[in-house]
Amino acid sequence: MKDQYGRDINYMRVSITDRCNLRCRYCMPEGIEWLPMEQILTLEEITEACRQAAALGIRKIKVTGGEPLVRKGCMELIGMLNALPGIEQVTLTTNGVLLPEYADELCRQGLHAVNISLDTLDPVKYTAITGFDQLPKVLDGIRAMETHGVPVKINAVLQRGVNDMECIALTELAEAHPVDVRFIELMPIGHGKEMKPVSNPEVVEQLRSHYGADRVTPDFHTHGNGPARYYHIDGFQGSIGFISAIHGKFCQNCNRIRLTATGDLKPCLCYSDRISIKNALRTGSPEDVKELIRQAIEQKPAAHCFENIQTVTELKEMSKIGG
Ligand code: GTP
Ligand code: 5AD
Ligand code: SF4
Repeated sequence: MKDQYGRDINYMRVSITDRCNLRCRYCMPEGIEWLPMEQILTLEEITEACRQAAALGIRKIKVTGGEPLVRKGCMELIGMLNALPGIEQVTLTTNGVLLPEYADELCRQGLHAVNISLDTLDPVKYTAITGFDQLPKVLDGIRAMETHGVPVKINAVLQRGVNDMECIALTELAEAHPVDVRFIELMPIGHGKEMKPVSNPEVVEQLRSHYGADRVTPDFHTHGNGPARYYHIDGFQGSIGFISAIHGKFCQNCNRIRLTATGDLKPCLCYSDRISIKNALRTGSPEDVKELIRQAIEQKPAAHCFENIQTVTELKEMSKIGG
């Protein structure tokens, strides 16, 4: 379905839990309280929401969290979503800690691709950023997905003075492995507001000066369905992507809506506007659910507004939105 600006909305990000087994400091504070389970959509309700979204032209589903793999039944859900009429692709964004355990089952359920969050290759920094000593599991998880031939993208958020000096080490993962490495500009959501961001133009410059400008060239192949722009480095197996929410507005090509774990549709990541479909899923008809999804698509704003201080103050909960 097209929105009011003529953009084809064919991708839905579905957060299936607010819970997480890590505590990345820009995302989740210590002492966070989990939502009670009755506020969270059941797996059947999520599947029904996706069925109605597919009837409106959603073709690709991204399963997110919190950390989606901590939700019991996540694997079966991926299988159920894959089986929905109209759905062509189901992908997952995860912190990777549980991938060594679940890689086989994810493949059996037909997962098409996985994005793995990894901000550092230094075990001490990994623990400082995420609160847990789990780097070896994430690295095993990357290898497990690679062995299964599932396309892997690494998501890295750089913070000045914390892990910005690691951008070359992270980039080199794409030399040694057939994975794409993406740098995500820190967005002023929740605790992200308190951290020091690094701009992506700065990272591109670092890569050009390290590898030589003629070895770093724009890569126009399709690598996913998101806002990343890619570069190829001569001799590398994977590409380097840049998600530049702050220094490169990509909203004119936006293709997505979001469904939170509590059943709110969010037309855009940046605004607090929401349309709840929980009651419609619990007491209404499939047509009611479809109508609300149609409204969310119609209400999509032209662009995000992270530059607006009011918006930034209101945005408190990346882990509940699902990124
Ligand atoms: P694929 O390339 O298809 O895998 O999708 P993706 O890059 O959108 O997926 P992923 O879940 O890995 O998201 C990576 C980062 O992009 C996260 O930090 C998201 O918050 C951010 N992101 C995804 N969509 C949007 C968007 O519409 N607006 C903004 N500002 N950020 C987004
Ligand atoms: N800004 C940018 N990216 C963020 N993520 C979580 N919080 C933020 C933020 N404030 C990233 C995670 C993960 C992805 C889903 O979102 O690192 O890779
Ligand atoms: Fe968990 Fe991802 Fe948030 Fe880190 S960024 S605390 S892994 S949801």
